[in-house]
Amino acid sequence: MIKLNVNGQPREVDADPATPLLWIIRENLKMPGTKFGCGIAQCGACTVHLDGKPVRSCSTSLSAAEGKTIATIEGLASEDGTLHKVQQAWIEAQVPQCGYCQSGQIMSAVALLEKNPRPTDAQIDEAMAGNVCRCGMYGRIRRAIKAAADIDQPAQVEA
Ligand code: FES
Ligand code: FES
Repeated sequence: MIKLNVNGQPREVDADPATPLLWIIRENLKMPGTKFGCGIAQCGACTVHLDGKPVRSCSTSLSAAEGKTIATIEGLASEDGTLHKVQQAWIEAQVPQCGYCQSGQIMSAVALLEKNPRPTDAQIDEAMAGNVCRCGMYGRIRRAIKAAADIDQPAQVEA
């Protein structure tokens, strides 16, 4: 058994230590919010936090996560259902289109704001560069991050 801490809860899984963390999260722990996109650390759809840092769970082994704190999209909202401020900003900015990339985008944004509560445009672009959105919602993603960070921004109409 390998011990994990997922969204504040102790969990144990019986699996090959080389198994990608993404499979463990989705299949063993039955949390499907973290998505499989490319499987080779190129798209960011599978982003979770490992000890507070964003990682690509498709390319992180179960053994690398042993004893560490894992946070997934399922753990962002409060127990009473109150959404995380980034989730709320995402809804208000109407970011999702197909939605597939979104949990990874949100997890990267949350990690950015925890490290840097008032990021510049360049810092947002750098932090989010590894998260691909096939629907091209990059403008809305940036606006939602700035709204969550409470950064004043001019009204914009582009996607
Ligand atoms: S599925 Fe992990 S980075 Fe694409
Ligand atoms: S919303 Fe469709 S891939 Fe990003």
